Amino acid sequence: MLEIRNVTRRFGKNVAVNGVNLQIQQGQMVGIIGRSGAGKSTLLKTINRLIDPSQGSIVFDGTEVSSLRGPALRRWQRDCAMIFQQFNLVPRLDVLTNVLLGRLNHRSTALNLLSIFSREERIRAIAALERLDIARTALQPAGTLSGGQQQRVAIARALMQEPKLILADEPIASLDPLNAKVVMDALRDINLRDGITVITNLHTLDTARTYCNRIIGMQGGAVVFDGAPEDLTIEAVRLVYGADADGTEISEAITSTSIRPVKVRAPVSAAPLEPAYAPA
Ligand SMILES: Nc1ncnc2c1ncn2[C@@H]1O[C@H](COP(=O)(O)OP(=O)(O)OP(=O)(O)O)[C@@H](O)[C@H]1O
Ligand SMILES: [Mg+2]
Repeated sequence: MLEIRNVTRRFGKNVAVNGVNLQIQQGQMVGIIGRSGAGKSTLLKTINRLIDPSQGSIVFDGTEVSSLRGPALRRWQRDCAMIFQQFNLVPRLDVLTNVLLGRLNHRSTALNLLSIFSREERIRAIAALERLDIARTALQPAGTLSGGQQQRVAIARALMQEPKLILADEPIASLDPLNAKVVMDALRDINLRDGITVITNLHTLDTARTYCNRIIGMQGGAVVFDGAPEDLTIEAVRLVYGADADGTEISEAITSTSIRPVKVRAPVSAAPLEPAYAPA
């Protein structure tokens, strides 16, 4: 279980995250919603320790992660993989190498310096690409892929970390509705079949409703809603998003890309490895 205990993060006088308390059971799929500047990204980054809290603590399975240093901190950052809106791939490296980079924190510095990946690691990387249905792109430079494909590469790279949590910061904000659906379906599939907790910031309400079993609404750095999608009433939405300056309410249509889910496919372990790329 992930526990966020009274976490506050200030930037100068600006309070980005304000006294947040959350308990997130392993295996939940959590969507964080809220207006721009509500503190969603800051909260995610404090979990992963890309940003340190000014106050409060973060505890995972009884270990205080907010005070970890050195190798223990790197192990924690391996346990919670980050996915970003802009994918953060190395565009000139091929897709397979980008995915293998997810193994770096599992290996010795010498192996990393020499960029030596084992046959087992490469097979695992291809299996991750297969799972996301992009194995055929394995040898292409990552920068030549479409946005939706690049985000799937980023998810495959995250899987290579063998994470316990995936933290996704607006993973579909740069994608068209079709690619957004493919990426959200992939995250849900990973959540359901691998039991990996997924915490994702989302800018569209209906995506959060469709995919998440828990929705957290933030406003001014604080949590103002925490409940199941069916509890997110129009009053709750108003609390999270407020009303526009001219008095008109934020309508669900404004924050909507109208994507629909599909049923989860058969387990990947049953899927054969396509010989799209044969490891040496
Ligand atoms: N590195 C930083 N330095 C100074 N202020 C920051 C920094 N990062 C965030 N902030 C401020 O903290 C507040 C919360 O920002 P944050 O990026 O967490 O919001 P958000 O909910 O993710 O917004 P968006 O939907 O636009 O991504 C904002 O007022 C922002 O300007
Ligand atoms: Mg953000």
